[in-house]
Amino acid sequence: MAIILEVRDLKTRFYTVDGVVHAVNGVSFDLAKGETLAIVGESGSGKSVSVMSLLRLIPMPPGRIESGQALFYGSDGPKDLLRLSQKELRDIRGGAIGFVFQDPATSLNPILTVGEQIIEIITRHLHLSRHEARERALQLLASVGIPDPEVRLGCYPFQLSGGMRQRVMIAIAIACNPQIVIADEPTTALDVTVQAQIVELFKRLRQELG
Ligand SMILES: Nc1ncnc2c1ncn2[C@@H]1O[C@H](COP(=O)(O)OP(=O)(O)O)[C@@H](O)[C@H]1O
Ligand SMILES: [Mg+2]
Repeated sequence: MAIILEVRDLKTRFYTVDGVVHAVNGVSFDLAKGETLAIVGESGSGKSVSVMSLLRLIPMPPGRIESGQALFYGSDGPKDLLRLSQKELRDIRGGAIGFVFQDPATSLNPILTVGEQIIEIITRHLHLSRHEARERALQLLASVGIPDPEVRLGCYPFQLSGGMRQRVMIAIAIACNPQIVIADEPTTALDVTVQAQIVELFKRLRQELG
């Protein structure tokens, strides 16, 4: 299987007033195309900081990526995510790499409708007109199991249930045909039956999208 992401010796620390937190101590892993990789560990063991470091979404300072390499084998050759410019990073985030975090309440913008948020990300990364982006947004909402996509497009996040908000986050994560989707405990904030539905959704999307 072709490797799509190769992480080597990732070390991230936080320099706080109370001392240095060794959050990630030399993590290495490979991710192959089409593969699902789960990072397992107790609370506080550095799972979130590991994946946030890859997208450079940790607050710096106090955080600092001390060493490591994260080679992403995207469509235009291997690139070290830890050494990209801010512009390259913005292009990759939500584009070639989609992500879903634990709490959809804080990941979605409360003052924009679902439609505005999905259409914004689609027009930013794909070269589509607004009309085409809207059509794609409707298809995406349907594909993540949101009933009445036309209606939901005009809703604000607070008008949706937690499970529906997380489906919207997944729609945004896959909106631009990403090569990798990073999901950090995407079901923790949801109740058990909805958790199972979201896990099933991820499985189905992986089969459909590879
Ligand atoms: N902004 C921050 N400032 C200081 N320490 C942090 C910060 N973010 C995370 N940490 C610390 O990094 C460690 C790893 O956290 P995290 O990756 O969130 O764990 P988890 O495996 O539960 O996702 C923890 O000790 C946490 O307290
Ligand atoms: Mg975490």
